[in-house]
Amino acid sequence: MGHVQKVKILSDNFTHTAASALKNGHLVAFPTETVYGLGGDAQNPNSVSEIYRVKARPTNNPLIVHISSIQYLDEWAQNVPSYARKLATELWPGPITLVFNKTKLAKDFITGNQSSVALRIPSNNIALEILREFEKLGSSGVAAPSANRYGTLSPTDANSVFIFLGQFLNEFDLIIDGGACQEGIESTIVDCTSEIPRILRPGPVSKVMIEEIGGVEVDKSFKKNLIKVPGQGSAHYAPKAKLYLTGRPNSGDGFLALESIPTPLGAIRIGSPKSSKEFAQTLYKALFMADKEGIKKVYVVPSTGDELSIAILDRLKKAAHKKT
Ligand code: TXA
Ligand code: MG
Repeated sequence: MGHVQKVKILSDNFTHTAASALKNGHLVAFPTETVYGLGGDAQNPNSVSEIYRVKARPTNNPLIVHISSIQYLDEWAQNVPSYARKLATELWPGPITLVFNKTKLAKDFITGNQSSVALRIPSNNIALEILREFEKLGSSGVAAPSANRYGTLSPTDANSVFIFLGQFLNEFDLIIDGGACQEGIESTIVDCTSEIPRILRPGPVSKVMIEEIGGVEVDKSFKKNLIKVPGQGSAHYAPKAKLYLTGRPNSGDGFLALESIPTPLGAIRIGSPKSSKEFAQTLYKALFMADKEGIKKVYVVPSTGDELSIAILDRLKKAAHKKT
């Protein structure tokens, strides 16, 4: 443990510094369009074990490997179905993660001992630049889970990363400040290891888009979890406050809903997004601010009626207090 250098984008050289740090085995937290990721060299077992330590995450919970270009897809993945190649070609860079049968490059330490590997090309320019610089150093693949402690809120700005993880990072690790994330919730995850795709985690890329672009219907059948599914722990994406999706707030409780819904008497408004898009963008930050204010209970009225709302509700349900 030690000091964390909190870096801003100051010079053209800057992404090179981040890439060198990664190549030297250090961790670099960086912005993506979804949430901030805690990056480490996906081929370096020490870097990957550092990610697990800093996040306090169980090592059987696999990490997403981030690449800058589709040219690296076949280094990491094999038996890529044609619908998946369409998804990758059309939707990358973007907020969708595809799970494939892995090649030898994807070691067990990155895949939680599974035979599959999760891949993503983020669209955030800083993320892409860092990945490109990293690849110029003769490597490929940056493992990057969300830059939070296991089970808690994901960070959508650099300051949140610093607060969540700063104390666990080492002297040469870096946090890159690229402002607030555009999407605000994590990528859609699609299992592409079978003949038809299966959505493992809903996100900014909708089912409709996946079916249209992939040219194939998604698998909706119930299956016992043969592979790791995101957010299986008891609480995930959770603030310190108890989260309720039903019932009425009492005086002093937090309240989050679309702008059009009035604040119940005595409740503390923690957010008034104008759309589901803004709901997603500001959700984690609003909950984080509620925690900072010491609010103990937060009541949320989720947005409804569009596909992004399905992804928001997925996070809220996993974060919600189990006993009401
Ligand atoms: O938007 C995102 O996806 C962000 C940014 C930083 O890219 N990353 C992110 O990573 O959310 P993480 O580790 O917090 O969530 C990734 C989820 C994990 O819950 C993990 O179980 C699942 O992806 N996952 C990773 N590899 C998998 C695999 N081979 N099969 C099934 N699920 C996998
Ligand atoms: Mg996460």
